[in-house]
Amino acid sequence: MAIETSRLPGLHRNSVAERLERIAEAVGLTPQQTAHLADTGNLTSDIANRLIENVIGTMNLPIGIATNMLVDGAEVLVPMATEESSVVAAVCNSARMCRDTGGFRTAVSGSEMIAQVQILDVPDPQSARLRLLERRDVIRQRCDAIDPVLVELGGGFRDLEVRVLETRGGPMVIVHLIVDTRDAMGANAVNSMAEALAPSLAEWAGGRALLRILSNLADRRLARASAVWPLEQIGGPRVRDDILAAFHFAEADPYRAATHNKGIMNGISALAMATGNDTRALEAGAHAYAARGGRYRALGSWEIDGEGALVGSLEVPIAMGMVGGATRGHPTAGLALAILGVETAGGLARVAAAVGLAQNFAALRALVTSGIQKGHMALHAQNIAMMAGARGEEIDRVAQILVERGEVRMDIAQAVLRDLSGSGSK
Ligand code: MEV
Repeated sequence: MAIETSRLPGLHRNSVAERLERIAEAVGLTPQQTAHLADTGNLTSDIANRLIENVIGTMNLPIGIATNMLVDGAEVLVPMATEESSVVAAVCNSARMCRDTGGFRTAVSGSEMIAQVQILDVPDPQSARLRLLERRDVIRQRCDAIDPVLVELGGGFRDLEVRVLETRGGPMVIVHLIVDTRDAMGANAVNSMAEALAPSLAEWAGGRALLRILSNLADRRLARASAVWPLEQIGGPRVRDDILAAFHFAEADPYRAATHNKGIMNGISALAMATGNDTRALEAGAHAYAARGGRYRALGSWEIDGEGALVGSLEVPIAMGMVGGATRGHPTAGLALAILGVETAGGLARVAAAVGLAQNFAALRALVTSGIQKGHMALHAQNIAMMAGARGEEIDRVAQILVERGEVRMDIAQAVLRDLSGSGSK
């Protein structure tokens, strides 16, 4: 509906309840709709109000548990928050099929993040670069002084890179502060360092500092996972070879690679969401990493081992944390971490890579065999049944009829519902 104005002065100063009242009035919500938004479930409005601005409610997502996961010899239950059907089942199935060969072997390359400081108007960028590199020690001291707790935990400044970047606006000096952020995702730590150091960096370079922000291309924080799927588990050599052909397609074609990688991120982002991590940072990092060679490519790799089994491997930047932000502030995120049982951000990243690989396997296997819709349909049919107005036991009955008819459509669901109601079989 059209509203009179989107100017709502002082909205940010209102309580959650007052805000909801104002919004309900502005857009004409019914008392039931307003009551629905007022029910914030297991995230209290007080906590929600401290996470973001102008809060009027919460948006609940289901958390499903991926079973069967064996990661570096340990049994792991993986909480996944997603709105997409088939994602959790996909991980369960993939993980079951590689258990006999030991499940997922994983590793991480480190926990270093990069903060970038952009310096403009430097008359002698090449010698400015050297002047900055010579000040590595003082830069280290100043960075570490910003976050002594991080240093106490074994993290802090690790390295300095200075690049001269040719741009259409002329050369720029780009400083990379490389910081080990340990169990934090690290955005706050490195952004604070970049902001604090920028004036001195600019002075030493003889220019003007502009942007001071982390890079989401977290290529010093790679997580790796590999697993072996035996032929008898996946349905024989034809399925294996077709999965390879699907991967080769994704390697060669950015249109396919985008979808291939989206499937991987279905798993990684769902784990990130459940644990209160920044899904956009992960998505940005993964896609930038996929394009690091100058062309957007498929993440990961599929090949055949000496026994003829299918081997998948995935290497992807995973900037996930276990301390700070919503990972600690959101009570459900803390419980998801407790279910997972990992103790470090590195452990979390390793599971994330395993889940991404599991998703990729499941998607490719489904695509080269029955197609993706079959798995989607059972739950999708339930969604459609609900949207058509089915409630309680009707949902399963309508969904079953839609799946049997092979027509999962809203108009059909409404007709089926009318028939059921008409026949008095509610
Ligand atoms: C759907 O969310 C993900 C897939 O499209 C991934 C893929 O095509 O590899 C099934």
